[in-house]
Amino acid sequence: MKLRKAKRTDAGQVADVLVECYNMDSKDEAIESFKREFKQEKVFVVCVDNKKIVAIASWQMHDIPKHKLAELHRIAVLPEFRGKGISKQIFDFMVDDCHIFYEDQGHGLRKMFVLTHGSNKRAQKFYEKLGFSLEARLPNHYYPGEDELVYSMFFKKRKKT
Ligand SMILES: CC(C)(COP(=O)(O)OP(=O)(O)OC[C@H]1O[C@@H](n2cnc3c(N)ncnc32)[C@H](O)[C@@H]1OP(=O)(O)O)[C@@H](O)C(=O)NCCC(=O)NCCS
Repeated sequence: MKLRKAKRTDAGQVADVLVECYNMDSKDEAIESFKREFKQEKVFVVCVDNKKIVAIASWQMHDIPKHKLAELHRIAVLPEFRGKGISKQIFDFMVDDCHIFYEDQGHGLRKMFVLTHGSNKRAQKFYEKLGFSLEARLPNHYYPGEDELVYSMFFKKRKKT
């Protein structure tokens, strides 16, 4: 398994993961989504097994660097690779990338948050295992009848090595 930043040319394989794991109707929709998010400065990382992308994650700075606030925008692991610790590995890699970005800006990462569907119990357990706490509930946010849960985690400033 290799963890690395995603490139624009990963669009096809990232789209395969998005179609499998998110509410995307087609590969074309997923490719468009990836390209748009890439352009919007969402930072994607991928986990590669035998040249195949098996997991993706992305984060985004919120507002300006001094707020030290990032959103975990996407995290997804192909079904046959779930429950094996890959999700935690890609999460740690993504957070490290996020820390480095904020440190390069002269700030440390202070807070990361993520939105997840109220019905997505597996994701909620996963976030709780990582140390996120439930912070808010947004009723009928993306879909009528489906609340969105806001989970967040605060970080201490990292010591320089
Ligand atoms: C969310 C996701 C990245 C987590 O990765 P994972 O490899 O499945 O994570 P884990 O195996 O550590 O599972 C997390 C916890 O969910 C629970 N869990 C496992 N299978 C479950 C299931 N079928 N239903 C509900 N909870 C389940 C377990 O408590 C598990 O913790 P444990 O291993 O200590 O028992 C992955 O499931 C995924 O890609 N889901 C689809 C995309 C998605 O929902 N992304 C998040 C959007 S906000």
